[in-house]
Amino acid sequence: MKGVVVYYSRWGNCKQVAESVAKGLEETGHEVSLVDAGSQKALEVEPDFLLVGSPTRIGKMAGPVKKFIKKAVPDAWEGKPFAAFGTGLQSALEKSEPNAADGIHLALEAMGLKPIAPAFKAGVVEMKGPLVEGDRERALEFGKEVGAALGG
Ligand SMILES: Cc1cc2nc3c(=O)[nH]c(=O)nc-3n(C[C@H](O)[C@H](O)[C@H](O)COP(=O)(O)O)c2cc1C
Repeated sequence: MKGVVVYYSRWGNCKQVAESVAKGLEETGHEVSLVDAGSQKALEVEPDFLLVGSPTRIGKMAGPVKKFIKKAVPDAWEGKPFAAFGTGLQSALEKSEPNAADGIHLALEAMGLKPIAPAFKAGVVEMKGPLVEGDRERALEFGKEVGAALGG
């Protein structure tokens, strides 16, 4: 299947997660375009599936991702499979504080898209990173799990 992984990233952490997720999807046989939500470019393909990820900002998704969901996810995508991911401070993750991934999951579900997997969250040690050790690999595994769940 053909899909799109949309992300936003200020310091590159969420981008690394997006790249690993995309790699996992590709390893399970899917064709993936990686799209920076901040570029505000129109999507080149109409995807069979959609993944959206964002850094957490005060418990929520970043502005460019919110805009992407509002503008670029048309009604026509109702019923399409999706999954959400997010990055946030590991200290906040450990306390189960709100994460961008949850907001993205809820927003896309409310638009009628169908979740393929629970929201995936990766931790950063400090605001600008780095990612918590092992979380790139977890992101790759998440991509593979989503890819396997999508099937052929
Ligand atoms: C203004 C601001 C608010 C933030 N609020 C949160 C927060 O509420 N919870 C959290 O876990 N991380 C928070 N963070 C940390 C970011 O999630 C972290 O910097 C980001 O995930 C790093 O990813 P990036 O390099 O892709 O931007 C905040 C960061 C900034 C700059």
